Amino acid sequence: MGRGRYEAAKQAHCRPKVHYPNMAIILGIESSCDETAAALVTSDRRVLAHALASQIAEHAPFGGVVPEIAARAHADRLMPLVEQVFGEAALTLGDVDAIAATAGPGLIGGVMVGLITGKALAHASGKPLIAVNHLEGHALSPRLADATLNFPYLLLLVSGGHCQILLVTGVGAYRRLATTIDDAAGEAFDKSAKLLGLPYPGGPALEALAATGDARAVPLPRPMLRSAEPHFSFAGLKSAVARAVASGAHQPADVAASFQAALVDCLIDRINHALDALEAAATGLDALVVAGGVAANGAVRSALQQIADVRGLRFVAPPLWLCTDNAAMIGWAGAERFAAGLTDPLDVVARPRWPLDDKAAIVRGAGVKA
Ligand code: KG4
Ligand code: ZN
Repeated sequence: MGRGRYEAAKQAHCRPKVHYPNMAIILGIESSCDETAAALVTSDRRVLAHALASQIAEHAPFGGVVPEIAARAHADRLMPLVEQVFGEAALTLGDVDAIAATAGPGLIGGVMVGLITGKALAHASGKPLIAVNHLEGHALSPRLADATLNFPYLLLLVSGGHCQILLVTGVGAYRRLATTIDDAAGEAFDKSAKLLGLPYPGGPALEALAATGDARAVPLPRPMLRSAEPHFSFAGLKSAVARAVASGAHQPADVAASFQAALVDCLIDRINHALDALEAAATGLDALVVAGGVAANGAVRSALQQIADVRGLRFVAPPLWLCTDNAAMIGWAGAERFAAGLTDPLDVVARPRWPLDDKAAIVRGAGVKA
C-alpha cells in the first residue's frame, strides 16, 4: 500500500482487512429516493467511509421529488461516490466481502440504477450480491449505532413514504402491527411545510419554524386517537393545516408548532396502543426504537423517550445522520444478512413495492404504501 493510501486509511480509522480475518466488509449502495449514497461498513459496526449526494437542489423547484430527474441524477453520481468511499477507506473492490444494494421499495428508476450498479460490481468482483429492502435498512440501522440492541424490539418506522409500527424479532423477521391508512408521517410534514410556504424537504424546515411557535395556538385534530384499530391517519390533520393557513388567522410558526404537537400526539397514542397489546402478550421487548427520516425530529424523539421511561423500556434512536436515507444503513443491513447467509442471485428484481411483513393484511387506504 502506498504512503498516501496508508494515510487515508489511518484517517478513515480503518486498517487493512488482513488484521480482521473474521470481519466482513460490505459495500452499501442506496438510490431509492432523492439521495445517492455509497458506504463501506464492517460486520463489527465500523463505518469505514460513507458518501452521499443529495438532490435537493434539482427537486426543490418542483416542491417534491421528480422520479425521472432522480433516476438520471443517481446514474450520474453513484459510481463517483462508490470510488470516493473506496478511496477514503483505502480499499478496493477486491477487499469487500459482499455488495449490498437497495432493491426496493422506492422510485423504480432510481432503485434500478443502484441495483444494477450493485449487480455489475458483484459480477465483476465475483462477490455475492445482497438485495436489501430499504425499509430493512432503516429497521436495522439502530443496531449499527447501538451494539447492545437485541431482538425483539418495537420499532416506529417513520419516513417520507412509510409510517409503521413493527415488532422486529430478527433479521428478516418483521411483524407489522400498524401502518398508515393514508399519508406517511414524513409526507404529512412535507405537505404541511409546503402549505406554510417552507422549502422542500419540509420536515427539518417545519421543525425549525415550530421551535418559535405556540403549540396550543391552533386547534388541530388528532386522527385515530384512542381508536381500537392500531393504525395511523394523517390526511385529516394536513387538511386542517390547509384550512388554518387559508384562514390567515394564525402565525405560521404557531401552525407549525401546533401541527408538530398534533402529529406527535398521534404517534404517542398509537405506540401506546401497540405496547399495551404487546404487554398483554408478554413479548419481552428489549427496547422501544425509532428509525427513518422523521426520527431526526427532536419532538418525536423526546416524546418516545418519555414513553420508554414510563414503560421502563430502553429507548434507542440512531444518530441524526443515520435516520435520513444513507448507504451505511444499507451496508449494515447487508452485513446482518451476510452473517445470516442471505445473499441473492444476479437476476433478483427491483421492487417498487416491497412490504417488510408480507403476511400483513392490506389495510383500508394503505395498499399503495404498505
Ligand atoms: O427516511 P427518509 O430520508 O426517506 C424515506 O425513505 O422516505 O425520510 C425522509 C422524510 C421526509 O418526509 C422529511 O421531511 C422527513 O423525513 N424528515 C423530518 C425531519 N428530517 C427529515 N421530519 C420531521 N422533522 C425532521 N427533523
Ligand atoms: Zn428511507
